[in-house]
Amino acid sequence: MAAPFTVLIMAAGQGTRMLSDTPKVLHRVAGKSLVAWIADAARAAGAERVVAVVRPGDGVAEGLPDGVEVAEQREGEGTGAAVLAARGAVKSGSVVVLSGDHPLITPEQLEGLLAEHEQHGARATLLTTDQLDPTGYGRIVRDSSGHVDRIVETKYTDGVSAEELAVDEVNLGTYVFDAETLFDALDNVELVKGERYLTGVFPLIRENGGTIAAHMTDDADAALGVNDRADLMAAEEAAQRGIIEGHAKAGVTFLHPGTTSVEAGVTIGRDTTIAAGTVLEGSTVIGERCEIGPHTTARGATIRDGATVIHSFVLEAEVGIDAKVGPFAYLRPGTVIGERVKVGTFVEVKNSDIGAGAKVPHLSYIGDADVGEDSNLGASTITANYDGRKKHRTKLGKSVKTGIHTSLVAPLDVGDRAYTGAGSTIDEDIPDGALGIERGKQKNVEGYADRVEEDSQK
Ligand code: UD1
Ligand code: CA
Repeated sequence: MAAPFTVLIMAAGQGTRMLSDTPKVLHRVAGKSLVAWIADAARAAGAERVVAVVRPGDGVAEGLPDGVEVAEQREGEGTGAAVLAARGAVKSGSVVVLSGDHPLITPEQLEGLLAEHEQHGARATLLTTDQLDPTGYGRIVRDSSGHVDRIVETKYTDGVSAEELAVDEVNLGTYVFDAETLFDALDNVELVKGERYLTGVFPLIRENGGTIAAHMTDDADAALGVNDRADLMAAEEAAQRGIIEGHAKAGVTFLHPGTTSVEAGVTIGRDTTIAAGTVLEGSTVIGERCEIGPHTTARGATIRDGATVIHSFVLEAEVGIDAKVGPFAYLRPGTVIGERVKVGTFVEVKNSDIGAGAKVPHLSYIGDADVGEDSNLGASTITANYDGRKKHRTKLGKSVKTGIHTSLVAPLDVGDRAYTGAGSTIDEDIPDGALGIERGKQKNVEGYADRVEEDSQK
C-alpha cells in the first residue's frame, strides 16, 4: 500500500488547439468527459483526495464525478500557474499531478509511478513514454548518468536544438512530487511567453540536489494526450478498443467491433451478441443472451435477458425478457415493453406500457397507452393521444384485437377481449368482449369499369 496521496488534475487550460467553445477537458471520449476519466483513474489508484483545477465559471466543475474537490485558477497562465492555484488545497506529503487531457491514463500507470518514486526516494518522478509521435510534447533530456536533467518544451520549436528535437522520450504530464519541494520550486520558475511552465521546476529541483526519477510506460493508448480533434479521435478509438475488449473478456460476442461503439457506462450480460453498426450509449443495461443489432442504437435503455433488438432505436425505454423488437422500431422515453412482446417494423412507441405477450407488428404509433397482456394490434393501429392542447391516455385491456387501420382516440378505455373493426376511428369506450366498429357501409357501383373506358374514348 502506498502512503496516502492527493491527486491534482490540471483542467483549466484554454485548449485553443481544439477550436471549440467547450473547454477541452469537457470533450467526451466514449461518452465520458476527459476530466471524469482521469478522476475515475485517480480514485481507482487509491487517491485519498482528488482536486481539479478549473477556471471560474467554465463549467468544468459541473462535469466532475461526485466528491472531486475544485480549486480555481484565477490568475496566471500555464501548467505551473494551475498547480499554484491548488496550493491551499494540498497538504505536505506526496502530491500526484495529472493533466486533464490524458484521459486514458490507467490506475496501473499511477501505481507504477508511485512505486518508482518511493523506490528512488525521489523529490519528483514523472511518467514518460517513447511510444507516441513526440511532436509538441516536452522531451526528456537525461544527463550522462541517465538521470532526468530537464524537460524541453516543443509546443514552439524556436530555440530548441536539433539534438533535443531528436529525443523521442516524452513527458506525459503525469507526475508525483514531494509537495513542499514542488511549491518552493514553482515560486521561482520564470515565465516563458507569459506562461509559467510546471516543467520549469525540474532544473530547480536538480540544483537543490533532489533526485528526479522517471517511470516509462509502453502502453501508448493509455499515454495518449489530447490537444486537437485528431487526438480526440485517437483517444476515442483507443477507449473503444479497451471497452469492447473488456466486454468480450466478460463473455460478450461482437460480430463487427470496428463498427460498434460502446460508451463507458454501459453494462452487457454474457452470451449476448452485438452485431455490426450498433451504438450503445449512456447507462444502457443489456441482459444475457440478447441479440442486439445490426444497426441498433440504445441510449439510457434497459434491455432484459433474451431480448432481440434489430435495426432499431431505443431511447430511455425498457425491453422485456425474450421480447423481439424491430427491424425499424423507435422506442421513446417512458416505454416499457413487456416479456415476449413483439414490436415490429415501422412501429413507434412513446410513454406506453405494452403488456406481456402483446404484439404490435407493423406500422403503428402507440403513444401514452397501456396495452394489456396478449393483445394484438392490427397493422397501422394508431393512438390519437393529442388533441392539440393536451395528451390523453389510451387503455386497452387484455387480449384485445384491433383491426388494421384502427384509430384509437384518447382518452379511451377498451375492455378485455374486445375487438375493433378494420378502419374504425374509435372514440367511445368499448366494453369487455364487445366489437367496436365505426365506418360507412360499403356500396358497390356496378359497371363502373366499363363506364370509365367509354368516357375515355369520347
Ligand atoms: C504539457 C507539458 C509537456 C507534456 C505535455 C503532455 C508543460 C509546460 N508542458 O504540455 O511537457 O509533454 O503536457 O501532454 O507543462 N492547464 C491548466 N491551466 C493552464 C494551462 C494548462 O490547468 O493555465 C491544464 C490543461 O487543461 C491541460 C494540462 O494543464 O489539461 C496541460 O496543458 P497543455 O497546455 O495541454 O500543455 P502541453 O502544451 O500539452
Ligand atoms: Ca496537452
